Amino acid sequence: MAQPAGTAGAGAQVTAQPYLWPWREIEPRLRLACDLVGVDRGASRRTLRLCTPGLALQAATHTIHASLQIVTQGEVAPAHRHSNNAFRFIIRGSASAHTTVEGERFDLERHDLILTPPWTWHDHTNDGDEPVYWIDGHDLPLLRSLSTEFFETYERRQQEAVFPSGHWSDIARDDPHYRLPPNMGGVPYIYRASESLAALKSLGVEAHDPTEGVCSPIATR
Ligand SMILES: [Fe+2]
Repeated sequence: MAQPAGTAGAGAQVTAQPYLWPWREIEPRLRLACDLVGVDRGASRRTLRLCTPGLALQAATHTIHASLQIVTQGEVAPAHRHSNNAFRFIIRGSASAHTTVEGERFDLERHDLILTPPWTWHDHTNDGDEPVYWIDGHDLPLLRSLSTEFFETYERRQQEAVFPSGHWSDIARDDPHYRLPPNMGGVPYIYRASESLAALKSLGVEAHDPTEGVCSPIATR
């Protein structure tokens, strides 16, 4: 039997409303935020949070925060770690900007996706001439509902890049039996836009299922 509009199963009320955040409105506000908040003036991050209308909490969904983050030229967003999972989807990157996660430096290129698992150290640096932007997502609303939110600042502003490029991705791909340090909730991982696009193209239309979609061979554990 069809559900009435606005409900999802017995007793569940859908309150979230569809909403579009146009980039032409977001980008000027991010620039303004740079004048108001400096990551070298007491703030560790500078973000605009996307709050879905109709939700009781200020978040994108009941369990996920989604924010736009900007790091301007010459800035370092200092190192910290937390119990929430996080991802970054790069909107505007630069060959001179990078995020260091658990000792490996990840260059930020447009449309890359970088995973920052729980309790992994991470910091962001922009040595280029233009600001870089990304969508910053994490599951803090879920962890707060469970009273499992933890946060720690690093002893220095930036981590040293002690591992070569590809260190964590190689482990995730090639060694399923690798034992993570006990305080790490997962392996930092980058999905390069170029690799993701090539994988999608390689699938071809024949492999596509109208219901299940397609499965890419590039996947982390
Ligand atoms: Fe963080």
